[in-house]
Amino acid sequence: VSGLLVHGAGAIATLADGLRRGAGQRDAAVVGPTEPGEELAVATWDDRILATGPAGEVGRRVEELGFAPDSFERLDARGGLVTPGLIDSHTHLIYAGTREAEWRLRAEGAGYLEIMAAGGGILSTVAATRAATDEDLLAGARDRLARMLACGTTTVEAKSGYALTTEGELRLLELTARLDAEGPLEIVPTFMGAHAVPAEYRARKDAAATYVAQVVEEQLPAVAGQGIARFCDVFCEAGVFDADASRRLLVAAREAGLGIRLHADELDASGGAELAAELAASGGCHSADHLAAVSEAGIAALAGVAEAGTPVVATLLPATSWFLGRHRFAPARRLIEAGVPVALATDHNPGTSPTFGLPVVMSIACLELAMTPAEALAAVTVNAAHALGLGDRLGSIEPGKQADLVVWDVPSVDQIPYWLGSSRVASVVKRGRVVLGRA
Ligand code: NIG
Ligand code: FE
Repeated sequence: VSGLLVHGAGAIATLADGLRRGAGQRDAAVVGPTEPGEELAVATWDDRILATGPAGEVGRRVEELGFAPDSFERLDARGGLVTPGLIDSHTHLIYAGTREAEWRLRAEGAGYLEIMAAGGGILSTVAATRAATDEDLLAGARDRLARMLACGTTTVEAKSGYALTTEGELRLLELTARLDAEGPLEIVPTFMGAHAVPAEYRARKDAAATYVAQVVEEQLPAVAGQGIARFCDVFCEAGVFDADASRRLLVAAREAGLGIRLHADELDASGGAELAAELAASGGCHSADHLAAVSEAGIAALAGVAEAGTPVVATLLPATSWFLGRHRFAPARRLIEAGVPVALATDHNPGTSPTFGLPVVMSIACLELAMTPAEALAAVTVNAAHALGLGDRLGSIEPGKQADLVVWDVPSVDQIPYWLGSSRVASVVKRGRVVLGRA
């Protein structure tokens, strides 16, 4: 059988009808029973969704399409909610080592960039990653992917950026492609050679500019030639790569055929959001991520390009702000009210966000960013799909879309972030196959 019938659902949050912004971000397009006791269903064939809605209607539709009802494997949702598979659109998946030693440094008052300037932080992960074997890196990433899947994630964006040499970055992208081929999670590779200025450049004059020139002239052509990466990202931040250096790299990346996105205004307003909007207007920019310190002008610039039909998805990473103990969160309400589409992601990495789960990120977003659960769900499904340029295939439950589903053991969208710190995932379906939970 290559058909699957998810039946017995109490409700389906379809997230149908495209990118969410403004008041529209609140609408999870939930389909519930039209009469008491009615059950909902989703029918899939191969890797695609055939039909969704009240069970009777889905049955009729499936027959109309010429499928025999008994050629479907069945998955009982037991009254739970069904949503699209969650999409984690910002992670640093492949690395070696851990950074719990930074607890103590931070408790003693050291800042994130200070630790990095002293050769720790990102640079300590770079040293561990360079020294690790392929097998070790793969084993670590496989373990993380399994934990993400257990939290309902079916698609993960994964950045390179812990090698910072041409060979090393190509290796990380190659390993990413291997993990994607293994499945069941789908992985979207991003090249992030400009994640930090590596130790061997630090003594040079104009270290950041000199390193970015190497990234543009050597790493980027090699990455484009390798043909694995779909995006290029940069850590645009005062003291790391400024807006001019970031622009130089991202424009070159776009010319080389990659999509572009950036770490913007994480710690200070550094012109990152403004740069993202400028790049959106001049040929496209998929997302501006973090934005905890975005300026007024940055919000206005993102609102402007959203209005003009070339939206940048504001991808907020509140687990990072929380884990860094910064007590300063992205202004989600102001962004949503300005009409900017908002996504949420884990930013999974060993330094600032060692979490696997989007449900806990949704909880932090509801608690600290004053987002509603429905806004947060749209932010980890349909809007995250658009942030990855995959909105035509992923992020919603609609006929023709890829059959990526989560069955929850809770009845409502609100209960996903409500059970703080726990995963209420009952089953996960990826490309029409039950990959987790009861089959
Ligand atoms: O998004 N800010 C830069 N990069 C990551 C952190 C990476 C690390 O600390 O290892 C982030 O927070
Ligand atoms: Fe990040």
